[in-house]
Amino acid sequence: SATGEPVRLVGAPVVYAHRGASAYAPENTLAAVDAAADMGVEWVENDVQRTKDGELVVVHDDTLSRTTDAKKLYPDRKPWRVRDFTAAEIARLDAGSWFDARFAGERVPTLRDYLDRVDANQQRLLLEIKKPELYPGIERETLDVLARAGWLDRSHVTRRLVVQSFSADSVRSVHTQRPEVVTAFLGTPAVADLERYAEFSDRINPWHTTISADWVSAVHRVRGPHGKTLEIDTWIVDDPTTARRMQELGVDGLISNAPDVVREATGGF
Ligand code: G3P
Ligand code: CA
Repeated sequence: SATGEPVRLVGAPVVYAHRGASAYAPENTLAAVDAAADMGVEWVENDVQRTKDGELVVVHDDTLSRTTDAKKLYPDRKPWRVRDFTAAEIARLDAGSWFDARFAGERVPTLRDYLDRVDANQQRLLLEIKKPELYPGIERETLDVLARAGWLDRSHVTRRLVVQSFSADSVRSVHTQRPEVVTAFLGTPAVADLERYAEFSDRINPWHTTISADWVSAVHRVRGPHGKTLEIDTWIVDDPTTARRMQELGVDGLISNAPDVVREATGGF
């Protein structure tokens, strides 16, 4: 546009880079954050877990075997659980080569390093607390890291951060401890239960195959803890047909491994 601002058509969903732009770079690495930034995608999604010695790190699976060279580096540490490794041990892992040789040397980021990169790129973050049942207290620790990195400052906290989880208890815990933080519940609650979820969730983020137009309308009628009607970000939408179907259903956001593809299909940014 004339001002250089991205043009977002009315009704176009917001696009989130799922685990970063993970169709193009290894998921949950700084390279995947940068790949999203290079496409002009503002929002990135990540997954947070905890090491044996209490460091918060960004990784999706609760084991290290799929997305790092842990099996090679630590052959006798089966099943390579994140929570059984120290931060120093995890820092030695290669989290890029499995995806493509040109990403050799990418690391499993600490949450702090990840936040600083998202910040430096002037991006926004959809932070998932992954498997919180494995990590008692991870909500408070995540909020502490966010606070220390400046992410909870009142001037911008609601504009650039959403914290989500499949665990309603975890989302409620985040909301209770820091009510200013925008939260999302991952799942598809029954319409009859929406008011209960709306006590602690501002957004409801369902798998795309599970939703209907009636469900979307019902969610959009309920008000969340900040007094606004609930919004819906659906996952994982990677193809143009599904993206347009979700747009027609009226969802507010698409969480995508290929954010450029679904943005193009829906006229969003
Ligand atoms: O953001 C939604 C999506 O990330 C939830 O599923 O397994 O990719 O964390 P998963
Ligand atoms: Ca996730």
